[in-house]
Parts: sequence; C-alpha cells; structure tokens
Amino acid sequence: MGRYYVTTPIYYVNAEPHAGSAYTTIFADALARYHRLVGDETFFLTGTDEHGQNIMKVASERGINPQAFVDEMSDKFKQAWTFLRISNDDFIRTTQPRHERVVQHAMDVMYKNGDIYLGTYNGWYCSKCETFYGENELVDGNCPIHHTPVEFVSEESYFFKWSKYQEPLLDLYKSNPEFVVPNTRLNEIRSFIERGLKDISVTRTSVPWGITVPFNSHHTVYVWFDALLNYISALGYGEENNEMKFWPGVHLIGKDILRHHAAMWPAMLMSLGLPVPKKVVAHGWWLVSGQKMSKSIGNIFSPYDLANHIKDTVNVNEDTAVDALRYFMLVAGPQKDDADLSLEALWNVYNADLANDFGNLLHRVIGFMKKKNIESVHKTTGGRFSRISEVVADALIKYRSAFENEDPQGALIAAMSIVKFLNDYQDKEKPWSLSGDDLNEMLYAELEAFKVVTAMLSPAMPSVSKQIGETLRCDISLLFGETAAFSPDLNEPPLFPRYKEEKVSSDTEPNVSETVTKKDEPAKDEQKPLIEYDLFSQVDLRVALIEAAERVPKSDKLIKLSVDLGPLGKRTVVAGIGLKYQPEELVGRRIIVVANLQPRKLMGVLSEGMLLAATGEDGLPNLLSCDGNPEPGTRIK
Ligand code: ME8
Ligand code: MG
Repeated sequence: MGRYYVTTPIYYVNAEPHAGSAYTTIFADALARYHRLVGDETFFLTGTDEHGQNIMKVASERGINPQAFVDEMSDKFKQAWTFLRISNDDFIRTTQPRHERVVQHAMDVMYKNGDIYLGTYNGWYCSKCETFYGENELVDGNCPIHHTPVEFVSEESYFFKWSKYQEPLLDLYKSNPEFVVPNTRLNEIRSFIERGLKDISVTRTSVPWGITVPFNSHHTVYVWFDALLNYISALGYGEENNEMKFWPGVHLIGKDILRHHAAMWPAMLMSLGLPVPKKVVAHGWWLVSGQKMSKSIGNIFSPYDLANHIKDTVNVNEDTAVDALRYFMLVAGPQKDDADLSLEALWNVYNADLANDFGNLLHRVIGFMKKKNIESVHKTTGGRFSRISEVVADALIKYRSAFENEDPQGALIAAMSIVKFLNDYQDKEKPWSLSGDDLNEMLYAELEAFKVVTAMLSPAMPSVSKQIGETLRCDISLLFGETAAFSPDLNEPPLFPRYKEEKVSSDTEPNVSETVTKKDEPAKDEQKPLIEYDLFSQVDLRVALIEAAERVPKSDKLIKLSVDLGPLGKRTVVAGIGLKYQPEELVGRRIIVVANLQPRKLMGVLSEGMLLAATGEDGLPNLLSCDGNPEPGTRIK
C-alpha cells in the first residue's frame, strides 16, 4: 500500500465556483477515490486563496470588509464541492492562522538562509493574475492572460533569489521528465527558464490584505508566495504533530498557473530544504464557443446549472445527475488539450456512454433475469465464458496504469471498453438460446464483470456505483475478488434514461425544422435571446443548387436532395418537404442550407446539411431562395 497526496489549486474567492474550478476538483477527487479504492493512504486537499490586491478590491466594491467577504465566498466553494460529492480530506484557507503561521515560518527560513533580500521593485503588475510581467511579456501593453491594463509598481520590496535556482530547476526537469505532464507543458516551462530567471519580488508595502512579513511588519507576503505554501501548511509543516509524511504530493492545476507551480514552487521548496513536488499535472481549458471560460470574460457555466439541467431534462435524482456531470467532465474535459463545453457535448457523452452503453447493459441483464424468472446466479467452474474475465483483466491493467499516471480519461475509457464488449457479447452469445448451467454461467460472468466495471467507475460516479451495489446486492468497493453469487433486485428502474433529442435523430420521421432543438424554444412569436455576432457567424449558411431529388422510400414527407455547394462539393440533404413539393419541381432551384450542421441519419439516409424553409398557413414548408443567381456555395452573410 502506498501513500498518495493530491491537491487542487486553491481558488480565488473573488467569484463563485464555476465549471473550470469544478473540473480540476472533480479530476482530483477521482484520483483520490481511485487511490483509496486500491488501498493507498490518501490525502486530498483543496481550499481557497483569500489574500491579495484583487480580493481586497472586489470586497471594497461590494462594500464589505475583506474578512467577511472571504468567509462568505469560501463557504460557497465548500458548498459547491459538497454538492459535487467531492471527498476532500481537508479544506485550507489562506486566512486561517494555521496557514499564516507556516507562511511566516517559511519566510523566516528563506530569509535566514539568504534567499530573501531587500531591494526595490519596478515593474508591471496584473492584479487579476496577481503576477508581475516584464515589459516584453505584455501584449499591446496589456496583461498577456487577461488583456486588461497592467499597473506600474515601484516600491521597496523583498526579493526571492529565483535566479539561483535556474540550473537546479533545469536539472530537475532533465532528471525527472515526468515532473510536469503533459510533456508539451514541460517543454514550455523549460524554455521559459532557459530564457533566464530573474529574482522575484515577494513582498508588498501597498497591499495591506496579506500576511505580515515576520522580519518587517511594513510588508505583506506576495499572494502567490503565500498561496503556494498552502500545500504544506495544510500538512502542518514546521509544526508539532504534522502530516508531512504525505509530502511530496501531486498538484493538479490548469495550464494558466504552470509557471507558478513548475518553476516558482519547486524553487521555494529547494530553498526550504524540502523535496520538490512529485508531479505537476497541468490540464487545458474548458472553452465556450472557442474562448477560455473565465470569470473575467464572464462566459461561465455553473456546475449547479449543469447538474440541474441534467436532473430536469432526463428526470433523474440529484446523485445521478451530479455523477453524470462528473463522468462527462472526466471523459470529455480538457485533460490534455482545451475542450469545448456545451450542452451538446454533454448530451452526446451522456447518451453514448451512460444511457446506451452502461445503463442499458445493466437493464438488459437484469431485465432478462426478470423475464426468465431467474432470481439468483452463482459462480461455477465451467469456464465456457472465460473470454469475459480475460477482457476484464486486460481492461483492469490499462485502467490501473492510467489512474497511476493521473489519466482518469484513459481509465474510464478502459472501464467502458468492458461495457462495450459485454453489450456485443450479449448480442452474439444469445442468452435466450441458453438454459441450465450454461445460462447461469453466462449471467454470472456478466454480472461479475458488471460489478467490476461499477467499481472501476466509482471514482467518477461514486453515488451511482453505490446505488448499483445496492441493486446487485454486493460490495462494489472492491476491484478484486469474486462474488460467490448474485441475487439482484430485479425491479430497479433504468439508471440513465436516454436523452430524448437522440430519439428524434433515430429513424423517426421528422418535420422540416426537426434538427432544431425543441427544448428551450421560446413561445411561437417570442424573440429568442440576443446572441453575439460571433455565435451567429459560426453558422455556415450557403447557396445550394439542387441537382437531383427523389422521395425517401416509405416516407411521404422526406425528400432526398443532391445539392451542389460549389467549393464545398456535392452533398446529400434530406428534408421534410415532400407534402408540399414534388421532386421534379425542385431540380435546378437554388436554396439556402446550413452547411456545417453535424450530419445525421433520417430514415436511414445520412443528411449532410439542413435547408431553410418557412411554414405557411397550411402548415406546409415554403423553401427559402435567393434573388439573382449566385454561384452554388456562395456564403450567406
Ligand atoms: O489561479 N478550464 O485561482 P483561480 C479549466 N488562486 N480549468 C479552469 C478554467 C477553465 N476555463 N478556469 C479556471 C488561482 N480553471 C490561484 C491558484 S494555487 C497555489 C493558487 C481552474 O481561482 C484551473 O485549475 O484563478 C485553474 O488553474 C484554476 O481554476 C485557477 O483558479
Ligand atoms: Mg485565474
């Protein structure tokens, strides 16, 4: 049994938790839960970053004193993490005395060993990042991250001898190429350091909202120096009865704070004579319509809204909705590269993995037992279905190695590969053709495999796994060891009801506007909410020339059109216009199509675009066309 310490960034309390901070926290939670599952002694830390100029400013804008403000905001983080079923062992706040003591102690150690010295700071500061930038790092004179003005600061300040650690840091990256993952980020930080490290100002005289420097009470500690030390203050560094046995730990962060964690923090630790972190895992960003989701831009998703949307849309309880959100984030999130956050992405993953694969499998097996009146199945030695246990064993190896490498996405894909295999197997082996021992053996093998999958998914979906354990009436807190017999509860309702939009895209007959999401559609004559031009410009509208048209068999509404889109080539578009138009009268017409809509199947025919039409008083569609004769493929603006 090993020991595992994992941390999230401590979040600024200037705004409420959002899907970005939720992502990192869920990511860390999955790692912690996995390590507990395999028996490691685990410590999972999160918390809030409460000092600094920016927090002080936001508090004063709200007209309350900073301490009252941070108390209120820090609670919001705690509540959000409780809602998301986060299993942190501790929650550190930088305004807690236990933290302030450690920061002062650490400052003293670094001052005494000569790594902190007095000087004057002149330079550019972004209070949103709480970070100094060199002239050459500014973009058009603004902060390179926030694109907002920076301020020129000139004051007496203590400096940390960062430059002294340039070579030791480069040696660290060389001797431990896994120190920062993914590898691209290691390269990024290495080249940052190779450009030359300058000593860094680590105290301020003009920011009262901070920890007092122990050797000069006119100064407060630079907020990043203060914040980074949380990772050891929570362990009680320098105190009696500390938990430093957990050090060094794994830090999960977003790529925005790579420099602080991979270059500043290890140098501080070297100065303190402590081991450097075990690993810095820097994930990418959730984007919304191509832009970083961020508090300063204001394009944020709330984790509550997302979970409640799931809950209300497919009518599941809060536990299930939260787990579905957690699963989606872990599988489709920006673990390596940036990822788009949208409801569409969420429902795609939900339907494909949770409704169609995972939930459906349990439903099939249990439904079958119910139909056949089989109440229990037990372990036998027949070995006829040993292929199942081989597949499980293989997937378990992949799963473990993924989690050991802080790759929950890879781990969940490995777990789901068992589900996919079992669904296929169920089709191929035709349990309804089996009876007696063979049937018992197959159902047992499937339930045993399903139990293991459930345990494997438990770091992502703790509540659902627990619930399945109750349905199967077995212990799902174990990855290994076979259950002797299963007598599941055969009356459980389906776990993850399918999201209905997909039903529309299956082979049912649509009307013209069926590809438009019907939910949230405003009442008939009401205007839809305003959108930015950017969003509109993502819709690729084009002039299309109809070259051929024929009816889709067995449908009186659907017509299959072959259209010319000029530079985009020729496409098939299936449209529900058959009650109004005859195929012959369509050929040669120029119509308007949405060219970049996800292709979808209608009555078995793949449609690669959607045409525009307006419904007349008779309820039938009228095609939109264009004056003049623009070339096929002309973009519509
Ligand atoms: O930087 N996508 O706090 P912070 C993914 N207090 N993750 C995101 C994200 C997005 N769009 N937006 C934010 C601070 N995050 C400091 C940290 S640690 C000693 C001090 C996540 O509130 C991601 O983990 O700005 C990112 O690194 C973190 O929130 C920044 O949180
Ligand atoms: Mg930030």
